[in-house]
Amino acid sequence: MELALYHPEFGYYTRTADPRERIGPKGDYYTSFDVHPLLAGALARQIGQIDDRLGHPDPFTIVETGPGKGLLARDLLTACDRHNPALAARLRYILIEHSPAMVAAQREQLAPWLGTPRVSWLNGLADLRDGAITGTMLSNELVDAFPVHRIKILDGEPKELHVAYADGRFVEQTGPLSTPALAQYLARLAAMGITLPDGYTTEINLRAISWMREVARALGRGVALTIDYGHTAQDLYGPDRKRGTLLCYTRHQASEDPYARVGLQDMTAHVDFTTLAAAGEEAGLSVTGFTNQTSFLMGLGAEQMLASLDPESPELQSAIQLLRPDGMGRTFKILVQHKGIAEPALDGLKFKPFFGSVLAPGSSKVTKS
Ligand SMILES: C[S@@+](CC[C@H](N)C(=O)[O-])C[C@H]1O[C@@H](n2cnc3c(N)ncnc32)[C@H](O)[C@@H]1O
Repeated sequence: MELALYHPEFGYYTRTADPRERIGPKGDYYTSFDVHPLLAGALARQIGQIDDRLGHPDPFTIVETGPGKGLLARDLLTACDRHNPALAARLRYILIEHSPAMVAAQREQLAPWLGTPRVSWLNGLADLRDGAITGTMLSNELVDAFPVHRIKILDGEPKELHVAYADGRFVEQTGPLSTPALAQYLARLAAMGITLPDGYTTEINLRAISWMREVARALGRGVALTIDYGHTAQDLYGPDRKRGTLLCYTRHQASEDPYARVGLQDMTAHVDFTTLAAAGEEAGLSVTGFTNQTSFLMGLGAEQMLASLDPESPELQSAIQLLRPDGMGRTFKILVQHKGIAEPALDGLKFKPFFGSVLAPGSSKVTKS
């Protein structure tokens, strides 16, 4: 998966083709920012409120990892220029992107701010010193694009699905776990009461844990907003998903075959937000809240934003897609964490789609009672 997505020459994200062939109407899949600027507008409001909670620091820095075509950065900077000039004057936007083709697309989108201190690029979070950032750490559909390990329970034992090459094609080989970190991950799930039955096949995203630790390290004071397809561990590793969530996308069609069109199709797996939150807690990030996209948008005034649109317009239909309870509105989750400040009251967390502390181990018992 690492090579299929990120090989410098042949990787899906890194080969030098027009990024619009990947994300967007002419590509393989959409993200929220292709559909409608509603989410970017809501994030601009939320970030304005985070700036208030931090006492208007100078600079206020946004670090976005995996910005893709750069649409969110463009829309956030535009919204700040228009509606929050006091923040715009102090705003620094740092983009961290693996793919040179994507960086080129971002530079195009951000042309109005190029050459100003407002926008800059870094190779990775490792380039930031400990606690360097006061502001917001942001990502959308980054963690679900990290390479995952695939595991299968056979005769009560976890095995890993390795990839070999034979007779001119990729083949799967079941073997031992490639790192003790996988057994540790499964042990943590077991401690929460999650045990996987025989035949269960799923994914484990170890990169998500190390990335979350880096976010915690680089953030000094502020809020991390992580938006992605995903679930609590109880849901992700529950009986409904016994074949896992690894999916590939070509021209807006999903497939379960990762060995077809290698390097020419997107691959993604849903995120375990319970483990992500726990990794953050261990590294100093407290959970502010966990919500879904519909509730986040409604808390930040989506209804009023939509009321200004013509009810018959295609624009309204696009915006509604982001809120659909049977689609993007519910599958997308938003993990909000804070560090270096008291727990901030944030409008994006005003409406609670989950009961209790749903990310805490054992909390499924609370929600089912
Ligand atoms: C699914 S796309 C999402 C793009 C964008 N955030 C959006 O919502 O439209 C994932 C992006 O993350 C980038 N990416 C993946 N791993 C990364 C990493 N470790 N550091 C920086 N960028 C990464 C990919 O190159 C790609 O641009």
